Amino acid sequence: MAIEIGKFAGEWAELLELLDMAFSAPWTDEQYESERRIWEPDRSIVATEEGQLVGHTGSFMLPMSVPGGQLPVAGVTMVGVRPTHRRRGILRDLMRAQLAEVREAGEPLAALTASEPVIYPRFGYGLAADHQEIVVPKGARALRPVDGIDDVRIRYVDAQESLARCAELRNRLALDRPGMFQHDESWQQYTISPTVVSNIAQASRLRCVVAERDGELTGFAYYRTKRADKGYVDVQRVHAVDLASHAALWRYLLEPDLLSETHCEPLASDDPLLDLLLDPRAPGAITRDGLWVRPVDVGRALAGRTYARDVDVVIEVVDEFLPWNAGRWHLTGGTDGAACEQVQRAADLTLDVRDLGAVYLGRPSLARLGRAGLIAEHTPGALATTSQAFSTSRLPFLDTGF
Ligand SMILES: CC(C)(COP(=O)(O)OP(=O)(O)OC[C@H]1O[C@@H](n2cnc3c(N)ncnc32)[C@H](O)[C@@H]1OP(=O)(O)O)[C@@H](O)C(=O)NCCC(=O)NCCS
Repeated sequence: MAIEIGKFAGEWAELLELLDMAFSAPWTDEQYESERRIWEPDRSIVATEEGQLVGHTGSFMLPMSVPGGQLPVAGVTMVGVRPTHRRRGILRDLMRAQLAEVREAGEPLAALTASEPVIYPRFGYGLAADHQEIVVPKGARALRPVDGIDDVRIRYVDAQESLARCAELRNRLALDRPGMFQHDESWQQYTISPTVVSNIAQASRLRCVVAERDGELTGFAYYRTKRADKGYVDVQRVHAVDLASHAALWRYLLEPDLLSETHCEPLASDDPLLDLLLDPRAPGAITRDGLWVRPVDVGRALAGRTYARDVDVVIEVVDEFLPWNAGRWHLTGGTDGAACEQVQRAADLTLDVRDLGAVYLGRPSLARLGRAGLIAEHTPGALATTSQAFSTSRLPFLDTGF
């Protein structure tokens, strides 16, 4: 039977039936409803067989921070193929159609979070941001001293009522953190919806505390608490404009009466908490994959960020999935901006597009991938200087899964 790939003209209920089956129904109706509210139907691409939906991929247009600026990024989501139709190439066809459409829309990058990390590298996605999962026992919560921490007041507020103020603070901070995207009103609601508020049974509803100094909002945290044999605080997010507020929020979250641990995922891999805990083993940090990035238009993507030092390099990109990216790209630029065009000159470096996606936001370093044999250096010294140019002072981090 022929499979057709095309735009979706159906209703949410039809898509829901497919996703519910594809994902083995892990979500409640309430969670599906919060997904529906952020769904962008015009961006849905489907596979059908005799009119029946058998596969889907969707995306959001996300204004995402990249080093030195912001780019429109296609945030790929709700990828699923009906269990009866798997391993016949439907996902591959959906991915190809979607990336062609993303290119036409003028979005130079696609990004996603993966349910299974081995699926997407074959389509040119590289792991561009990781994060930590931590569990801090109450007995090991001691922090190093932080100036000004006692001047910060922690106050309990209603998450819905304080949403706009907290979201504004978080959007401001997102501008300086590669990988974070701006939350519009529907994403703001999403951050306090049942989908992202992790699905733990018998947990409290979402709680919000704000940090204030002299009446000014300087940070906030979302969390839930769970009473069980080993009760814990489940921290959803902590954002603060300064270190004292950040530490004050964490000091509060690490002191739960009647509970014995504090859990958090995702925590940025360079979060100051990891350096402030007196016992570096206390968080038992586990590194998890976060954001996967796929350059869709290599020239526009490379020209769309800034670089930590002057760069003048020809990079040969291998891209078997999107042939328009394959070839040699001359990148020039520095801290103020960059230009990139396709050339015929000999290359200084050669790498696969997935590895370009991996290093694009500043982590891991090209030098590290070079040591793993993933980047070929044709001009001595080019790897070290280009690696420095791609580096960022803050690690990329995705605080909102999609
Ligand atoms: C993941 C999923 C979308 C794959 O769809 P599919 O139509 O079976 O995939 P395809 O047949 O197009 O496979 C393309 C390639 O990916 C590989 N692949 C697909 N799913 C894979 C998986 N779960 N693990 C490892 N490899 C996988 C295939 O082996 C194939 O490899 P090849 O390029 O070497 O031939 C489908 O299995 C699914 O719906 N899973 C449950 C929901 C899910 O996990 N969605 C992803 C959310 S991020």
